[in-house]
Amino acid sequence: MSIILAIESSCDDTSAAVLRDDRILSNVIASQKVHEQYGGVVPELASRAHQQNIVPVVDAAIKNAGIEKSQIDAVAFTRGPGLLGSLLVGVSFAKSFAQALDIPLIEVNHLQGHVLSHFIKENDDSQVPRFPFLCLLVSGGHTQIILLKSHFEMEILGQTIDDAAGECIDKAAKIMELGYPGGPIIDKFAKEGNPDAFQFATPHIPNYDYSFSGIKTSFLYFLRDRLAEDPDFIEKNKPDLCASIQKCIVGFLLKKFEKAALQKGINQVAIAGGVSANSYLRSELQRIGDKHHWKVFVPKFQFCTDNAAMVGIAGYYKFLKGEFADISLPPYTRD
Ligand code: KG4
Ligand code: ZN
Repeated sequence: MSIILAIESSCDDTSAAVLRDDRILSNVIASQKVHEQYGGVVPELASRAHQQNIVPVVDAAIKNAGIEKSQIDAVAFTRGPGLLGSLLVGVSFAKSFAQALDIPLIEVNHLQGHVLSHFIKENDDSQVPRFPFLCLLVSGGHTQIILLKSHFEMEILGQTIDDAAGECIDKAAKIMELGYPGGPIIDKFAKEGNPDAFQFATPHIPNYDYSFSGIKTSFLYFLRDRLAEDPDFIEKNKPDLCASIQKCIVGFLLKKFEKAALQKGINQVAIAGGVSANSYLRSELQRIGDKHHWKVFVPKFQFCTDNAAMVGIAGYYKFLKGEFADISLPPYTRD
């Protein structure tokens, strides 16, 4: 049996979790509200907020887990990719904590954490995917179709050649001045809108790759033209605009993902990353999965956006392999 403390601080969420083997005991997330007024994450403010949050967040995670510090066997931390200043806070904290307790460190890749979040167990009935399975990783920084052959054998079949899906959603929200992060706001308005009200073209990109920068630009130009005719166009059509752009992005994502699963003969599929919290993406994947008799894995909301439980589960599988990190390891910003 192992008890792992996990730390995540790659972007604008400070999070700590405690796992007993693959079972989650606690998962505390402090989201930073300071960025909302700027319409995006301000790196310097993010690292400052991590510094304020890290000690109380870790403290709460240990207390909520009902364990003593002395019971912790290893510290897993997100080494990258992410913002350097943000990563440095979590990495330095994890190193000092492990050194003070004289326990090993485990470095975790943030993206592997998102994908492996499907293996976090909350109770005895928790169902996990079987290998091989296909995962659509969609976050603010990444969009990838990944074939998982084992916990750490991940083959990227396709990915975005420019913007990530989450970035595109956030930009669309910004163009409509809806606030940041735009994903959850678009999701909410879209529920009252008509997804067929407006059509936006998706680009033809070969194989399983994606491109989102063109969608963003066509949305911008479409609104510019409509606003020239009617300055209240966005205000009058908000739900329909949200539902339509959401349908365009989700449809594009799932068309390629479905094709990849069919061509690879996969019948277990999953989504991960912040955008996997999107209700339309979740229901559409379920609908497509039902059509093909696939087993569909959709993460709980608390495991979609950045969280330390996913770092803990990736750390647990590395712990089993005895893969520990040296204290001198620096964070990395790119994958
Ligand atoms: O995984 P994540 O928390 O951070 C990164 O590693 O990037 O993903 C953040 C992204 C943001 O673009 C945010 O707008 C999006 O996830 N997101 C959503 C929803 N909730 C979060 N996008 C669409 N619908 C949502 N409900
Ligand atoms: Zn993430």
